[in-house]
Amino acid sequence: MRKPAVLITGASGEVGFGLIDRFAQTDHTRVIALDIKPLPEELQARCSASIVGDILDENLLQRLISEFEIHAIYHLAALLSTRAEYTPDTAHRVNVEGTLNLLKLAHEQTRWHGHPVTFVFPSSIAVYGLPNVAAKEKAGRIRETDWNFPTTMYGCNKAYCEMLGRYYSLHYRQLAAESDIRRIDFRSLRFPGLISATTMPTGGTSDYAAEMIHAAAQGVPYACFVPPTARLPFMVMPDAIRSLVQLAEAPAEKLSQRVYNVSAFSLSAAQLRDRVLSAFPKAQITFDPQIPRANIVDTWPADVDDSPARSDWGWRPEYEVGRAFDEYLIPAITKRYR
Ligand code: SER
Repeated sequence: MRKPAVLITGASGEVGFGLIDRFAQTDHTRVIALDIKPLPEELQARCSASIVGDILDENLLQRLISEFEIHAIYHLAALLSTRAEYTPDTAHRVNVEGTLNLLKLAHEQTRWHGHPVTFVFPSSIAVYGLPNVAAKEKAGRIRETDWNFPTTMYGCNKAYCEMLGRYYSLHYRQLAAESDIRRIDFRSLRFPGLISATTMPTGGTSDYAAEMIHAAAQGVPYACFVPPTARLPFMVMPDAIRSLVQLAEAPAEKLSQRVYNVSAFSLSAAQLRDRVLSAFPKAQITFDPQIPRANIVDTWPADVDDSPARSDWGWRPEYEVGRAFDEYLIPAITKRYR
């Protein structure tokens, strides 16, 4: 008998760490972790299986479903925005073909056991593309349907995979002869910049926030690669994990859309520096904008309108900016480097 399980791809990334922790603490979900990098041992112990492998390896995915009956997939594996600009072909393969492989697997599993596989997909503010800073300032908090003109390979990949997910949920095999086609249940969140107290992101463009705080706590100087005026929405990791699980568990009839903005607070890089300085007064933070990379931040919204998530499935961040710094980031990061 195959055992029912939840599959987490990209499990060795920072969202994966938080999600594995959450499942280990709160219920008895059988977790299959998949990543090209091995999981640290303490996290392996919290999973039923921890597989080192590539989401592009279809044989590996087939072997996986011969052993486990997958009921939910948290598909986190991706190359983030900065890294994807350096290797756009690889990014397309991993971010798009990899997602397609997982969508096919989810569909196959849905046909086998008859329950729609919940497919949770973290998308991003990178799907938005504002033409310039003036338009960004004027746009304010933007809705899911506005400014869908991504300017990065990563943003294009995420936007397209949102559409693929919707297609697999609603229309896949629409011309097939069988009348009762069971399809997957795709749900996606457009995350703002995520900040974790325990892990560092790699290859993202919003990474300056985490880098600035972690450098200050270590007493290391930090030159921020965006100007003080650059503004983005952010969220701390505990809220990101909670939002993923809450969306996955929301009753289907409550969801009026498949892709939701979620946000917690919006900060300029100068405001971020001020928060960091008030916790670490000796921090050496300078601004040395790296223009092409900083320009990507200018195309992303200053904030997003997450009212559909709030009204459909009760999204509320637990960490507004004050609490995020005072009760999560500063104490946990200080402890980490003590
Ligand atoms: N945080 C991501 C990045 O910077 C955006 O989703 O690439």
